[in-house]
Amino acid sequence: MVYICILKEILLFCAIEGSTVNTADLMNRARAASAHAYCPYSHFMVGAALLTTREQVFTGCNVENISYSLTMCAERVALYTAVSAGKKKGDFLALAVAGRMKDGPWQPCAPCGACRQVLAEFSSTHHPLIVVYLDARGTVREQTISDLLPQKFSF
Ligand code: THU
Repeated sequence: MVYICILKEILLFCAIEGSTVNTADLMNRARAASAHAYCPYSHFMVGAALLTTREQVFTGCNVENISYSLTMCAERVALYTAVSAGKKKGDFLALAVAGRMKDGPWQPCAPCGACRQVLAEFSSTHHPLIVVYLDARGTVREQTISDLLPQKFSF
């Protein structure tokens, strides 16, 4: 079991590292994108960077609303920006997400449940989407979206 997990980690690492944009670059792009966050209510700035198979990077930040519930997460802004530019299901390799309180240190920040469901929609068997995020231990993790959301809604 341990060997399978290690092998999985190596395969995920290679999937991104095979691209000229590596995990650290993508995380830096996500961090930079968080600078544009509109978050006057939570003050929590989130950025996301989505890498395509053609090595384009689409970014997004969270956009809050006074109604609270109309707030849009950074991950979905990045994905919807890519889709509206013509990208299709299976065109994506990896998405990095990063968040921090205004002027604070980077914090653990994995995609919320709603974003996982939306990201899963655009992952494919050929190119399983890899999510890069800082976990609760302060380690940068790479996990497939299906590992993060084992049972997505579908009918
Ligand atoms: N947020 C994201 O941008 N992505 C997530 O996956 C979860 C939360 C944002 C929404 C809100 O603006 C702020 O973080 C605090 O919840």
